[in-house]
Amino acid sequence: MAEVKLLSFWLVCLLAIPFNLSRSLAPSSTTFLDVASSLRQARNVLSLEPTTAPFNQQEEDGEETQQRTSSIVLQLHPRASIGKPKHRQHSDYRSLTLARLARDTARVKSLVSRLDLAVNRISKTDLKPVDLKIEKQQQYKYEYGVQGIQGPVVSGTSQGSGEYFSRVGIGNPPTQLYMVIDTGSDVNWVQCSPCADCYQQADPIFEPASSSSFSPLTCDTNQCRSLDVSECHNGTCLYEVSYGDGSYTIGDLVTETVTIGSAKIDNVAIGCGHNNEGLFIGAAGLLGLGGGSLSFPSQLNATSFSYCLVDRDSDSVSTLEFESSLPPNAVTAPLLRNPQIDTFLYIGMTGLSIGGDLLPLSESLFRLDGSGNGGIIVDSGTAVTRLQTDVYNSLRDAFAKGMRDLPRAGGFALFDTCYDLSTKSSVEVPTVSFHFGEGKDLPLPAKNYMIPIDSNGTFCLAFAPTSSTLSIIGNVQQQGTRVGFDLASSVIGFVPYKC
Ligand SMILES: *[C@@H]1O[C@H](CO)[C@@H](O)[C@H](O)[C@H]1NC(C)=O
Ligand SMILES: *[C@@H]1O[C@H](CO)[C@@H](O)[C@H](O)[C@H]1NC(C)=O
Ligand SMILES: *[C@@H]1O[C@H](CO)[C@@H](O)[C@H](O)[C@H]1NC(C)=O
Repeated sequence: MAEVKLLSFWLVCLLAIPFNLSRSLAPSSTTFLDVASSLRQARNVLSLEPTTAPFNQQEEDGEETQQRTSSIVLQLHPRASIGKPKHRQHSDYRSLTLARLARDTARVKSLVSRLDLAVNRISKTDLKPVDLKIEKQQQYKYEYGVQGIQGPVVSGTSQGSGEYFSRVGIGNPPTQLYMVIDTGSDVNWVQCSPCADCYQQADPIFEPASSSSFSPLTCDTNQCRSLDVSECHNGTCLYEVSYGDGSYTIGDLVTETVTIGSAKIDNVAIGCGHNNEGLFIGAAGLLGLGGGSLSFPSQLNATSFSYCLVDRDSDSVSTLEFESSLPPNAVTAPLLRNPQIDTFLYIGMTGLSIGGDLLPLSESLFRLDGSGNGGIIVDSGTAVTRLQTDVYNSLRDAFAKGMRDLPRAGGFALFDTCYDLSTKSSVEVPTVSFHFGEGKDLPLPAKNYMIPIDSNGTFCLAFAPTSSTLSIIGNVQQQGTRVGFDLASSVIGFVPYKC
């Protein structure tokens, strides 16, 4: 009996020691920012040669990916490494940054307006296109308005959205296409011939006639009924997805074979978009990774997926994986759902710390409430993390205090906390950590929140305030971290330095 007691005593001690150690040692209060390396990359990105055929099927089957648990693995490329279009138009990093931030503002606006539509319980019938004109030769032109809710359709920004792309095979035989991956939406789609209006993309436009697996869906199918906006034309299902900022895609909802890596998935509902406008320039379409029933993970019946977003100024490659379980060392947080909108993937966050000190903020500022307001989503498509104004101000003030010796620079676009680091090669900055309750926290690498905005040494704190109640963890903060969504157990996990 005594021995058992002694044993349990030691067991308790053994368990307690590492816990106490990690308590007192982490999070460390400062982190080093490698200024020189960030600047080198910023200077490099403008001269990156777009790879014409970066997707190498053989790599997929390489040893590295075989170690993984997942059977469905896709390569993931940052925008900088594909297509010629946009980077060439920027002569300097400052103008590239401005374009990225303009795109990011449009992105956030579109997420917020979709949430507002859902929270205000606009019924699907209110969302019908009010004036649908199908012109001859199946050229679709919608004049679209949502009664009283949405203003006139404005032209989307011409910058192109989405920082991360995967190469996906559509049809049989598969046509390899660059698709934006997007955790903020559900409907998968590609630009589709014949085009009434297609924007510029790196690949040829998808040609349904050359695919034997192309099959239009009828209006009475579950897939068609799951659309927010649909229209029946001659028995077949037309879809429309409007991203709220003027960008949209309209066309036929069809089923197609989707090939990723060595996996072939038949009968995936995708949009064959004949009329597309807006933010997605460069990509042939979009792979929706949201929580709704039409998203790619939902259609795969995936119990989990994960991605790793490499540094967006690099041309490295990482992966998007399905059925990929979280490793035991992942920092985990609850995956929450909004009863008003099933698309967004919310994270149960409880607080933020700067320099090891928890900001004095009520947890309610991070909470998703029963009416669908508040809360924080993890988004692959938003760049800069948005926080409610009070939260942002508290973070910024604590951060600036911790940076006291470093020379300030003027604000830039949505950033108000910038520094001139042109004479430094490395600086010590306060550590920024996300907290998820139960003592779990995720310290961010310094380069995930101090980012260069030009190529001669101005760096800004890459967080921004939002007037919406919706907060968003953006991809700048996720760089270099494997982010896993365990859909079956409702857990989000982060594994830093694991691309
Ligand atoms: C409607 O569908 C029928 C049968 O599929 C087809 O023959 C006809 O051309 C279609 N009409 C229009 C206007 O597309
Ligand atoms: C997913 O589950 C549904 C319903 O059980 C089934 O019809 C469908 O074939 C499954 N899809 C895949 C890719 O396994
Ligand atoms: C940074 O570079 C730009 C030109 O690219 C120049 O106009 C500006 O003065 C530089 N700023 C600093 C702080 O050196």
